[in-house]
Amino acid sequence: MSIDYNQTIPNNVDLATDRSLQRALEQWQPGFIDWWRELGPVGSQGHEVYLRTAVSVDPGGWAHFDYVKMPEYRWGIFLNPPAADPKIHFGEHKGQPVWNEVPGEHRANLRRIIVAQGDTEPASVEQQRHLGLTAPSQYDLRNLYQVNVEEGRHLWAMVYLLHRHFGRDGREEADAMLHRHAGDPNNPRILGAFNEKTPDWLSLYMFTYFTDRDGKFQLSALAESGFDPLARTTKFMLTEEAHHMFVGESGVSRTIQRTCEVMKASGVDAADKLRALGVIDLETIQRYLNFHYSVTIDLFGADQSSNAATFYSAGLKGRYGETKLDDDHVLKDATYPILEVANGRIAEKQVSALSSINERLRDDYIRDSVAGVERWNRVIEKSGIPFRLQVPHKAFNRKIGSFAAARVSPDGRIVSEAEWNAGVGNWLPSDEDRAFVASLMGRVVEPGKFANWIAPPAVGINRQPASFEYVRFG
Ligand SMILES: [Fe+2]
Ligand SMILES: [Fe+2]
Repeated sequence: MSIDYNQTIPNNVDLATDRSLQRALEQWQPGFIDWWRELGPVGSQGHEVYLRTAVSVDPGGWAHFDYVKMPEYRWGIFLNPPAADPKIHFGEHKGQPVWNEVPGEHRANLRRIIVAQGDTEPASVEQQRHLGLTAPSQYDLRNLYQVNVEEGRHLWAMVYLLHRHFGRDGREEADAMLHRHAGDPNNPRILGAFNEKTPDWLSLYMFTYFTDRDGKFQLSALAESGFDPLARTTKFMLTEEAHHMFVGESGVSRTIQRTCEVMKASGVDAADKLRALGVIDLETIQRYLNFHYSVTIDLFGADQSSNAATFYSAGLKGRYGETKLDDDHVLKDATYPILEVANGRIAEKQVSALSSINERLRDDYIRDSVAGVERWNRVIEKSGIPFRLQVPHKAFNRKIGSFAAARVSPDGRIVSEAEWNAGVGNWLPSDEDRAFVASLMGRVVEPGKFANWIAPPAVGINRQPASFEYVRFG
């Protein structure tokens, strides 16, 4: 499964043996490069960036680090090797061999799943395109660019499947990926969170912590797919996704650490006084957390969904950790608890497990998210500061599902419109919060220097020091 870098499009799928596919993808490629130049990171075309590139899909040692100009990054098509005796693990086809070609009856649904995933990848690059202008350090700038080029590669992963397996309409969908744009009122990206702005670096860290983690859970569910090319490509994408979540977790952690250092050194804990000292108060960090968490959990879709049930029963999209779950993997008679509003309160009810596949994935996601928030709390605890961050109730600030019409406080109470209006300034970032965070954003370009509001990382990338020259500006 070694990667052939002698090709125009690096790949480990023997692209050279399928001339018409190769030609079609080579025709899509210049449009992708144009898109990168127009809507990728602003002002970055001439920079040489210390980036990792995949050299093989073997676990461990797949990455090679070197200086690369991003428009020359070797975006390619990398699939994990097939399993020894690959079988479908769930749904009505459980126990049957996996599909290497798209079954006719599942074609429309598979295309829909692949397009929805693929659309998020370039969307996040577009959302983050201005951030390089206000990077708090070279180290952080390099991490942003690494995430951006890998999201570009994730688009390649989905576009390959569309071109290889979906004929003419697959090619049309691949073209449309470059024509929808994040936040474009006339032709927006498919999912809401991917049309929001990522205006500052605290937003970026929250996005890569929470929203790239949505990516982890969606990809994990697709990595179980009976359509083996989808399973194999998403398995490799997951290895890249881990770095994106690291950027988020460590970025928020370093922001908290710096705030706590200043709180301790100055003896100040009032938000306005801390702001005057140029760091982000923990209350504002909590409001950003509330926003990104609630917007992201909407991405899992409605609590009960007949589409999700169909995708599962058909063997197209599994559950998180499917093979490790101890049940029949068919779920015909199984139930699952969901929440709903009943008599003015939030109450649990048991519903069909098949119809609540989305909710289950959201709950798995929530467990994973909370673990990192606890790691952030340990940074605060170590400073001896009596403050705890927490994720809001899953009904808070929802736009999709059974809570979309309800007003729910972060602690999970149904509140009146008046109470919501009185509380929302403490629960979600206000315009003033965003303006303050924006006011801290300034460009720090000297190696080893960091903006005042964020602590340096404990270690650099690829065991380089934090003071390493991660970007050679061109
Ligand atoms: Fe991605
Ligand atoms: Fe990602």
